[in-house]
Amino acid sequence: MKNIGILTAGGDCPGLNAAIRSVVLSAKSMNAEVVGFLDGFSGVKNNRTTNLATSDVEWIIDRGGSILGCSGSNPFNSLEDSNKCMQTIKKHNIYGLIVIGGNSSMGTAYLGQQKGLKIIGIPKTIDNDVYGTDVTIGFDTAVQIATEAIDRLKTTAQSHDRVMVIETMGRDVGWLSVAAGIAGGADLIITPEKLMDPRNVVQAVIKIHENSGRNYIIIVVGEGAKFLNDSKQTEISRPDGATRLGGIGTRVAELIADQTGFDTRVSVIGHLQRGGPPSPRDRLLASRFGVYATKRLISGESGFMVADNGGNLINQPLETVANKVKKVDPQLLKIARSLETLDVY
Ligand code: F6P
Repeated sequence: MKNIGILTAGGDCPGLNAAIRSVVLSAKSMNAEVVGFLDGFSGVKNNRTTNLATSDVEWIIDRGGSILGCSGSNPFNSLEDSNKCMQTIKKHNIYGLIVIGGNSSMGTAYLGQQKGLKIIGIPKTIDNDVYGTDVTIGFDTAVQIATEAIDRLKTTAQSHDRVMVIETMGRDVGWLSVAAGIAGGADLIITPEKLMDPRNVVQAVIKIHENSGRNYIIIVVGEGAKFLNDSKQTEISRPDGATRLGGIGTRVAELIADQTGFDTRVSVIGHLQRGGPPSPRDRLLASRFGVYATKRLISGESGFMVADNGGNLINQPLETVANKVKKVDPQLLKIARSLETLDVY
């Protein structure tokens, strides 16, 4: 009988529990035991574990968050912490690890692999920016929530003749802002990919007003968007050296109010996009990824991330995907451009 380990690294997203469930149930069907590490890789470093039985996961497919907890800890950058991880792995007789994470967690997994661990990654993030896979767990739900937020903000903007600026998440790229912006029928979408010219933002709003004859205008801004030639950053440094984004929606709203005189409001939908039950599509994706990863790990394969490629599951070497960002699909951008919503750059 083999013991395999599982952890959820990085930020949470809807669908993590569905993936954990899928790993535990499929491992059972192959006569393997699953040890859960708490709070990402920090549970491996600090030997904080929980045994996962069928009864622990049977009813969690619809639950948001992660029953294991999440953290972005990377113990493999320090020899001392790496050694602690290896001791934990040995202590629990762990044959191999399933790491559910985003870009940087795949980087941590790759470091772990270089230390000799057998690892298979499962991609997750509401940002959908993990390199090498068409889609990540959590994205579909986040698009659904952001679209619903746009739908709701649209009706109040309409009633009051207001410009409504909606800030979505999306650290490096605009998957979420573009997808929800198109689905929510936004007038203007501003993404983190390129620096925006404030004059173009104002002109775009005036043009929308002139062409449509209405004052209510819906603008979707990805949290990572930045102005051209602007030293004021919309980032806050964190003690762990990372940065927290936020504030660009407010700055865009202030710019529009100042320069056009339109009554303008901002709504930052933030962590709402990460919480709550996963969509059926995310539950299905998580279940598919989980079964695939577990079967392969127990059969002796490792060193890759499971990826969706046009609906088929494939293996992407951890080395290829580690710390890389997947850009927004040009086809999606083309649709947004054809709808004249992406013209501030
Ligand atoms: O990586 C996913 C993400 O949702 C980003 O879009 C966002 O910048 C970040 O997480 C925020 O995470 P936290 O508030 O947990 O640090």
